[in-house]
Amino acid sequence: MGDDHTGRFDGRIALVTGAGSGIGAAVARGLAAQGAEVFAADVDGPAVEALAEELRRTHPVTVDVAEPAQVDAAFDEAVRRHGRLDVVVHAAGVDDPTAKEWIAEALVAEEPPVVTGRLGDAAWRRVMRVNLDGTFHVLRAAVRVMAPHRSGAVVTVGSSSAFDAQAGYPHYAASKAGMHALSQSVAKEAIAFGVRVNTVAPGPTETGMAARTPAALRQGFADPRVRPYATAEEIADVALFLASDEAVNLVGAVLLANGGRFTV
Ligand SMILES: NC(=O)c1ccc[n+]([C@@H]2O[C@H](COP(=O)([O-])OP(=O)(O)OC[C@H]3O[C@@H](n4cnc5c(N)ncnc54)[C@H](O)[C@@H]3O)[C@@H](O)[C@H]2O)c1
Repeated sequence: MGDDHTGRFDGRIALVTGAGSGIGAAVARGLAAQGAEVFAADVDGPAVEALAEELRRTHPVTVDVAEPAQVDAAFDEAVRRHGRLDVVVHAAGVDDPTAKEWIAEALVAEEPPVVTGRLGDAAWRRVMRVNLDGTFHVLRAAVRVMAPHRSGAVVTVGSSSAFDAQAGYPHYAASKAGMHALSQSVAKEAIAFGVRVNTVAPGPTETGMAARTPAALRQGFADPRVRPYATAEEIADVALFLASDEAVNLVGAVLLANGGRFTV
């Protein structure tokens, strides 16, 4: 995060989901360092409490984004305290470590992965309720509180896997493709009310989620012709750009940040 961006979010009120780890935590750090008042929201309460102790102007909020009443309450609290919300970055999301294990085992055995037939309803629902339903809850709340002020910037964190769908990871790919389309539809509606919605779609990024990726699978991502795993800060920088006034003419964009692995 370069010094040239110090103060870019001075006086702005921001809410970041998934702020307890990885990309969301890096976004919260960046926003706080650049002057914003940050509501750091995560289902992992102790993680955001620890972050808030370390950062200035940062308030922890325990929220499960899959629970609409909890999301609405968090947004209402931010507005009650500050009168408005200027920036929302929605980074909360889940992977499926079991499916990743199955893919890795197949890779090691040099067999095709067999996942879909074994994927239980609970595994499917868990990914969809957090990644897709959660995004709907966050976008709905953001538009509700931002539109009356005729301003605001929302950034959702999608995934490159919506474009390059990995075999054996259908629920995650579907949830992320759904969030891209959801974000774009809301973007086209919300811009009429001065609210910008955009998405960053990261490729492999070094976070808690990546730490749950088996070594065999990680090796599959190692390619000397492209950039290595991104840092959480590198993805946060893209999210912060989308949230900033520099991106004023970006609406409904899905910015692929994957270090050159593929293009769309
Ligand atoms: N790491 C990658 O390689 C990668 C690649 C593409 C996209 N992404 C996406 O980036 C986003 C951030 O992931 P990350 O890599 O930083 O992972 P991470 O696991 O390090 O952080 C995710 C955070 O979201 C929180 N969270 C999970 N479920 C939640 C819920 N129901 N309500 C509120 N918070 C919840 C977790 O507690 C955690 O703090 C996710 O949406 C993920 O799908 C990650």
